[in-house]
Amino acid sequence: MDYFSTPVRPPRAEVLKRVADKDALICLLTEKVDEELLSIAPNLKIAATVSVGYDNLDIPACTRHHVAATNTPGVLDKTTADFAWTLMMAVARRLVEADSFIRSNSWRGWNIDQFCGADVWGKKLGIYGFGRIGREMARRAQGFDMRVIYFNRGRAPREVEQALHAEFVPADQLLAESDYVSLHVPLTPDTRHLINAAALKKMKPTAFLINTTRGPVVDEAALVEALTAGTIAGAALDVFEREPDVNPGLLPLKNVVLAPHIASASLETRTKMALMAVENVAAFFDGRRPPNLINPEALGG
Ligand code: GLV
Repeated sequence: MDYFSTPVRPPRAEVLKRVADKDALICLLTEKVDEELLSIAPNLKIAATVSVGYDNLDIPACTRHHVAATNTPGVLDKTTADFAWTLMMAVARRLVEADSFIRSNSWRGWNIDQFCGADVWGKKLGIYGFGRIGREMARRAQGFDMRVIYFNRGRAPREVEQALHAEFVPADQLLAESDYVSLHVPLTPDTRHLINAAALKKMKPTAFLINTTRGPVVDEAALVEALTAGTIAGAALDVFEREPDVNPGLLPLKNVVLAPHIASASLETRTKMALMAVENVAAFFDGRRPPNLINPEALGG
């Protein structure tokens, strides 16, 4: 067994060298399991990513190499929704700006118009992608008396819509009407740059964009332009197009809150995710079907 416990991502060459003779790989979302890695590791039977998003795994390639691919769905939904909420509140109420103001010793006393932000309660929340995490967003919105609209490729069952007081609308309507647009679609070829210049133009100049899914879902250059030009009011981002690089245009903007991909990062949840990945591998070698198998075809259906 080999493992990396370094705080920085191990060099790719080192990963390839170490994985070459392994039967199983437990990896983070930063590690690409692609043709290159798979063809170097002929013994590999399972690749278990410690993440719900699995855009780091080339699933057709895993299947071709008869490598079972697994992820960690379900355990991080509430924690991730909590953090999307944290970002939404922080950008709306200018918390990060206000915090820096105090730390820089700039506060000279209370003032009627100091750091006036935007209300969250009573506003319209647009949830783009209505899977498990999107639905947790809707559940939280009830406590804030928000109107919830959502778009998803497939409409949710009526009982779910009713329970969450969520109304299905076309994507363009969601962009045009929402005060807060929160993204919860997986990264796929169809969702890459889903939020581009044209989509941002459809949003209200008073609206905020929240992204806790994957960076490439948003065209970061177009977002910088929209934020600078006032096309939208602000953004709160936990994910970036080329992590760990962040578009330098975002850094000076006061109407942006930035976090280093930590939406699921509570100790409880990250522990559950890690255990889930281990359980997937253990199940495989016990002759059981891994509970979170993505590509059953790799094991013959
Ligand atoms: C985190 O981004 C995940 O996909 O679990």
